[in-house]
Amino acid sequence: MVDTDAAADLREKLVAELLAQEKIVSEAVETAFRRVPRHQFMPADTELAAAYGYDNSVVTKRDDRDRALSSVSAAYIQAAMLEMAQLRHGMTVLEIGSGGLNAAYIAEIVGPEGRVVSIDIDPEIIDRAATALDATGYGSRVRALVADAEHGVPGEGPFDAIIVTVGAWDIAPAWLTQLRPEGVLVLPLVMNNVTRVIAFRRDGEHLVSTAAEVAGFVAMQGDGARADQIIELPGPAGGTVRLSFDSRAPSDLGQLDGVLTAGATESWSQVTVAKGVSFADLHLWFACYLDGFCRLSADSETDVATPKRWLPLAAVRGAGLAYLILRDAPGGAEFGARAYGRDGQLAADALNEQVQAWHRSERHTTPTFAYWPTGPDIPTDAAAMTKTHGVLTITWPTGS
Ligand SMILES: C[S@@+](CC[C@H](N)C(=O)[O-])C[C@H]1O[C@@H](n2cnc3c(N)ncnc32)[C@H](O)[C@@H]1O
Repeated sequence: MVDTDAAADLREKLVAELLAQEKIVSEAVETAFRRVPRHQFMPADTELAAAYGYDNSVVTKRDDRDRALSSVSAAYIQAAMLEMAQLRHGMTVLEIGSGGLNAAYIAEIVGPEGRVVSIDIDPEIIDRAATALDATGYGSRVRALVADAEHGVPGEGPFDAIIVTVGAWDIAPAWLTQLRPEGVLVLPLVMNNVTRVIAFRRDGEHLVSTAAEVAGFVAMQGDGARADQIIELPGPAGGTVRLSFDSRAPSDLGQLDGVLTAGATESWSQVTVAKGVSFADLHLWFACYLDGFCRLSADSETDVATPKRWLPLAAVRGAGLAYLILRDAPGGAEFGARAYGRDGQLAADALNEQVQAWHRSERHTTPTFAYWPTGPDIPTDAAAMTKTHGVLTITWPTGS
């Protein structure tokens, strides 16, 4: 039996934290977070404290390899995305990726004159969402239906805002067709293995970002799904090390066979980061500018640079691989590279050079993102990523 007083107290505490961290900045989103009983959209065995955590996401479904297929997103990113969407009373809103909770927040914000459509590719998730929406009194205010977002929602729209709550590698043409010309599209966009939640508005034929946030989301399924290219290498301690490439995998990865079982060298960038300071934008910088960039993961810590701290960011050059490491430095830590294989030093140099280039840029300033569904006006001075349906450009305040 849930203690409703305890839930109400936790809800107030959560709202206070979201306000303090400026994830909630409008009265409409604040009221929604005060009213919607968040815990009633969670699996029954979820602790109240977890349901009302600031940055807790709660997985609701996994695949047979234990990867999350669906989750209730963390409160901070739900609040931030609702603010980014600039929702107002009476709007028509599409939520892509359902669960019920976020749709209830949207219903609170757009009010009875508004319209909320919430879709999910998974019938089980839509059943769960519909049941929770009915139980909390939002059932009649949200249309929850099964659909693959890649194809939009036939018979619905146009939408004033589309909020995508699942990791998208590209912007489906159907979303732009169903978005009003002045509408806002908010989505977690996967850019060469790095995700940012971005709010876009139209500017003529292309989209320009108005805000961005760091967050992770479960991956898109269905016709818009995009599989990473993954290679597995035997690690130095006998475990498996995985390299995961997005769209720019080098063609000759076979040269890396056995590369991790020979010795390693380390080199240092002389770039430091102060203790407690985020360097999330370094990941995005690598995604933009580091050739052969990939994510690295290991079954066991003994296969990576213990006792040094390591980061899951790596570069491949020919028959060489290097990944990012940290060592203590006065007031914080210095970035460096651990290199393996015949061309390992080339990979390490490339990694350290991009750490230095990021450092010379305004390293804590968020770049501007633009998406170009069609042609000729794409700027040539920005980092560009070619997607299936358009080109994404990323412009850093001072460029590289
Ligand atoms: C993070 S969960 C959604 C969270 C929910 N909006 C909330 O706030 O609690 C992402 C959902 O996207 C769904 N999904 C994945 N691919 C999809 C697709 N192509 N079309 C529609 N839904 C999709 C998954 O089934 C999953 O339930």
